[in-house]
Amino acid sequence: AKKITKICCIGAGYVGGPTMAVIAQKCPGIQVTVVDLNQARIAAWNDPDTENIPVYEPGLSAVVAEARGRNLFFSTNVDEAIAEAEMIFISVNTPTKTYGTGKGMAADLKYIELCARQIARVSKTDKIIVEKSTLPVRTAEAVKSILQNTGNNVQFQILSNPEFLAEGTAVEDLHAPDRILIGGDPTEEGQEALQALVDVYANWVPREKILTTNLWSSELSKLTANAFLAQRVSSINALSELCEHTGADVFEVARSIGTDSRIGPKFLNASVGFGGSCFQKDILNLVYIARSYGLQQVADYWEQVIIMNDHQKRRFGTKIVRTLYNTVSGKKIAFLGWAFKKDTNDTRESAAIYVADDLLNEQANIAVYDPKVTADQIQGDLNYLHSRSEAENSALVTAVTDPYECCKGAHAIAIMTEWDEFKTYDWERIYANMTKPAFLFDGRNVVDRKKLSDIGFKVYSIGK
Ligand code: NAI
Repeated sequence: AKKITKICCIGAGYVGGPTMAVIAQKCPGIQVTVVDLNQARIAAWNDPDTENIPVYEPGLSAVVAEARGRNLFFSTNVDEAIAEAEMIFISVNTPTKTYGTGKGMAADLKYIELCARQIARVSKTDKIIVEKSTLPVRTAEAVKSILQNTGNNVQFQILSNPEFLAEGTAVEDLHAPDRILIGGDPTEEGQEALQALVDVYANWVPREKILTTNLWSSELSKLTANAFLAQRVSSINALSELCEHTGADVFEVARSIGTDSRIGPKFLNASVGFGGSCFQKDILNLVYIARSYGLQQVADYWEQVIIMNDHQKRRFGTKIVRTLYNTVSGKKIAFLGWAFKKDTNDTRESAAIYVADDLLNEQANIAVYDPKVTADQIQGDLNYLHSRSEAENSALVTAVTDPYECCKGAHAIAIMTEWDEFKTYDWERIYANMTKPAFLFDGRNVVDRKKLSDIGFKVYSIGK
């Protein structure tokens, strides 16, 4: 197969940034250029202090420090990077459509199409195009059609190479993936392109972990993986509510079933609900695709995962209001955590946003402490919902940079993210400064319930 020496990646986000940083780190002979239209984002990736790169992931700034300027580059010059590269990864966002047909369900592919048209316009030499973004099954067909009908008569091969990294452990996952999945055309040219990408990963991934399939299996496998993972969370969350009514403890139940090797222990943590940019959007997309083929039962089956997750988020807020004597109006509620999970600064679809929104409808005052999320981000997340004016959001919600300050005078604390540091706080000090009775709602099973109850907290944990 052709040896790749120049890679371009369109999209310098949570996927494009870390994946390309690791490819550059592991393949010093390949020049990797990551491009984005967002100038502020590129500037942050180029910040001389790698602690200021726009994606927070443990270990990432060190990888960037090692490769940047050597064979890893971040740029806003999209045309130039496309023109030079032999292989182009498309790693742009594919959010849920907010308008028109499929609104609220289907993936919005306008960014993908723009990339395809730009590649077609700029390319003067043959290219291998790699779908890194998560895409509906059969998207490669559309990409191919655009490239072949609008290009300069150069040859394009299209591969699907979905990314399975988890935020919070992205670098670890990229260094030692469970598998790499690459889908390609069965033609000779298709298989040659596929082999070129296999050879890139083989620089650090054992060959037996590199799976190859046809394009459609690869595209659909990514949606399927996210649907299965989210389904486990919704399944255990559904049982957490039953536990609360029966005296069973969901964590004891999870341990009991997780030791069954057919079930396995991972992804069985009951919580306030899953967030993140992917699970919801990808399942909605799967549901939409199934409906579009007339497969109602398939669609309804997977949609239930989302319905359960929405219920879990909502009932957490309701529990807070009911416990606080049916009113939180004018009361201070302290949120510990805003990110959708620990060890990331990503807040997309975080449960905290929706629980906060419900409590704001009840006129609560919310103070938020998160070790990695900025005040602007928190306001932006709430404003995006359009539930009330931006002025009201900023009057009712304050971001605080000190956790003890955040909890001072609060009627209740809600733990929304499982940051490790929450476990080691001086909880006696926090208790002493709260309004009594001091309530604590643990949405992530973070604190020692017995210890905090002994201090005097009224503790509510999900599923107990
Ligand atoms: P993101 O929103 O962080 O990054 C996408 C970037 O693409 C943005 O910076 C945007 O400015 C840029 N972009 C959009 N259109 C462009 C264009 N025409 N030219 C140049 N740049 C353009 O999104 P994220 O989280 O990196 O996700 C990207 C894809 O990867 C999505 O399809 C997502 O489903 C998938 N994915 C995400 C995972 C995650 O953990 N976030 C994991 C696995 C897959």
